[in-house]
Amino acid sequence: MTTHGRFRNPVEAVLVGVLEFIRRKNNIRPLLESDRLDGRNCLITGASSGVGYALAVQLARRGARLFLACRSGIPQVGEQITALTGNDQIEMLHVDLADLNSVHQLCDTLRDRGIRLDVVHCNAGVTPPRARRTPQGLDEMFVVNYLATFLLLNRLLYDGVIPNERFAGRPNIGVPRPRIIITSSDSHRNASAIDFDELGVFRDYGVRGSINNYSYFKLVLNTFATELSRRLKTGDQVDVSVHTVCPGPVNSNIIRDAPPILRSFMRFIFTFFFQTPAKAAPPLVYLACAPEVEGETNVYLHMMARKRMDEKVYDEEAGNRLWKKSEEIIKGL
Ligand SMILES: NC(=O)c1ccc[n+]([C@@H]2O[C@H](COP(=O)([O-])OP(=O)(O)OC[C@H]3O[C@@H](n4cnc5c(N)ncnc54)[C@H](OP(=O)(O)O)[C@@H]3O)[C@@H](O)[C@H]2O)c1
Repeated sequence: MTTHGRFRNPVEAVLVGVLEFIRRKNNIRPLLESDRLDGRNCLITGASSGVGYALAVQLARRGARLFLACRSGIPQVGEQITALTGNDQIEMLHVDLADLNSVHQLCDTLRDRGIRLDVVHCNAGVTPPRARRTPQGLDEMFVVNYLATFLLLNRLLYDGVIPNERFAGRPNIGVPRPRIIITSSDSHRNASAIDFDELGVFRDYGVRGSINNYSYFKLVLNTFATELSRRLKTGDQVDVSVHTVCPGPVNSNIIRDAPPILRSFMRFIFTFFFQTPAKAAPPLVYLACAPEVEGETNVYLHMMARKRMDEKVYDEEAGNRLWKKSEEIIKGL
């Protein structure tokens, strides 16, 4: 394997996550009741479970109109959030991010209904226990954790569903500007540089390869987010903000597909040492509504701390190559 992520096995990944959580130092303010999203349209992927579900509950409490783009939990998740929060402006839309045709269908629906989004949270992610092929024959983790986000955001921007000047020729009048927020992972740090010849090529792997690829694809994702933030800016003028966030270790369902013995061990660590999704969601909420980040772009939060990402992420040549290569992969299907 020419590419590698930060961790060689899941146990190392989990233990480092716990250590980093214990040593965390917040450098942004906590959320306030005045951080509201009334009248704003927010789309969230992966809202059926884990941190995406907690995010949806917290945005609903802050007055947002929600579009939950999920592959499961329709309509129960939306109904449950309405019952919990009293917010009845919640709609569930189906998408299977492993299937790029399904991503196109979601985008067609949003465009045809004339929906305008103010906040888009690309949050869904998977760690499959082994390499799995998508309906288009690509690697599932590559598609769900990166390529589907590339396609989804390109479509939403070109169609003007996220209003913008650069892709849709529709300038944003007034503030706040639309915000795109991508859930990533601090595990992207120290992953290898992107191997453009290998990108999109299906290779077989097991549990170790999965954890390795997870952090590598998060580096790919952050490189894309940085490139997108450059493309949505003219000089100092930000057209649409693009931010990236790692929620830290979360006791979510991300290990649902792990082999049984490993899953039991991980579930034990997750239950006793990881944060609940509700405690992990605030940095995602902050990026959606904090007024002090208005006009900024490419902010990275690791839990409630602003940081720089791995330096490789800021390489402009790599960002541009990644964009072109991703377009080529999609055109070649
Ligand atoms: N857990 C952690 O410690 C941790 C740490 C850092 C970053 N993160 C990131 O946080 C994000 C959320 O993960 P989580 O921990 O909350 O895990 P989770 O509970 O497993 O939630 C993942 C979400 O992604 C959705 N999803 C997966 N594959 C999909 C597909 N093909 N199409 C549509 N939706 C799909 C899932 O939908 P279903 O319910 O239908 O499966 C679920 O809603 C991920 O990007 C993850 O990488 C997690």
